[in-house]
Amino acid sequence: MTPLLEVTGLHKSYPAKRNLLGRVTERSIVTNDVSFTVARGETLGIVGESGAGKSTIGRQVLRLIEPDAGTIRFDGQDVRRFKGKELLAFRQRAQMIFQDPFSSLDPHMTIRNAVGEPLSIHFGIAGAERDRRVVEILQRVGMREDQLDKYPREFSGGQLQRIAIARALTLDPDFIVCDEPVAALDVSIQAQVLNLLLDLQVERGLSYIFISHDLSLVRFLAHRVMVMYRGEVVESGTAEELFENPQHPYTKTLVSAAPDPRSRRRSGSVPTLEA
Ligand SMILES: Nc1ncnc2c1ncn2[C@@H]1O[C@H](COP(=O)(O)OP(=O)(O)OP(=O)(O)O)[C@@H](O)[C@H]1O
Ligand SMILES: [Mg+2]
Repeated sequence: MTPLLEVTGLHKSYPAKRNLLGRVTERSIVTNDVSFTVARGETLGIVGESGAGKSTIGRQVLRLIEPDAGTIRFDGQDVRRFKGKELLAFRQRAQMIFQDPFSSLDPHMTIRNAVGEPLSIHFGIAGAERDRRVVEILQRVGMREDQLDKYPREFSGGQLQRIAIARALTLDPDFIVCDEPVAALDVSIQAQVLNLLLDLQVERGLSYIFISHDLSLVRFLAHRVMVMYRGEVVESGTAEELFENPQHPYTKTLVSAAPDPRSRRRSGSVPTLEA
């Protein structure tokens, strides 16, 4: 079966220096010849130090940033050529969850409306039907019905991230880019949110790109891992391979610096992610 996502030769640079006339004389390369695939139901972990280009990859894949070169195929189709209806359909199937759930939600919107809004925009669903779906998905992520008419400021970080996940799920996507989704949360809450993401993946057959600089989280969640260093993929493989036998010096440093939770993927119980 073809992978859900197939990325080849992704390249992106930004102007770094200009001369007196304003002409660009130097560019900094942020993603250099990046290629990877994500299978259906699979999680690809992307790790690397700050500035390695991880978020830029996620954003290019979702067409939030335009690549300079490269191809992005989603379910066999060329994402970079999507326009109009095709682009709208893609926006429904491919979602993103950000590090800071507060800034990804409108402070003036109740969570009922925040989560229901995509249903109105994409499918014109309103009224009781919209409400039914919103309640169902919010309950699925662990929120209570009596919390639905509150505003983002009334929730904790962990609750907000659950709400952001619910919002991402309302359109029944196939694929979610999770960009450091638990980095801003207390360690005690991280495992709950990660387990929710894992459960939803199994229930819905979701594919994830899971971006993190925390190797122990990636080990816990990802089937395959890609290590980025200064815009380039320096190593990739199954999570096991990479952690047991890192090849690239940068990966070795990362692995030796990471705690070894020995929890791997969950087998029923809630794991403790050691800090
Ligand atoms: N719009 C932009 N203009 C110029 N440079 C940019 C722009 N966006 C990103 N960069 C640069 O690209 C590089 C990669 O940024 P990116 O946000 O993808 O890194 P990252 O791996 O996600 O880092 P972090 O772990 O800190 O989130 C950084 O050096 C950043 O400064
Ligand atoms: Mg980032």
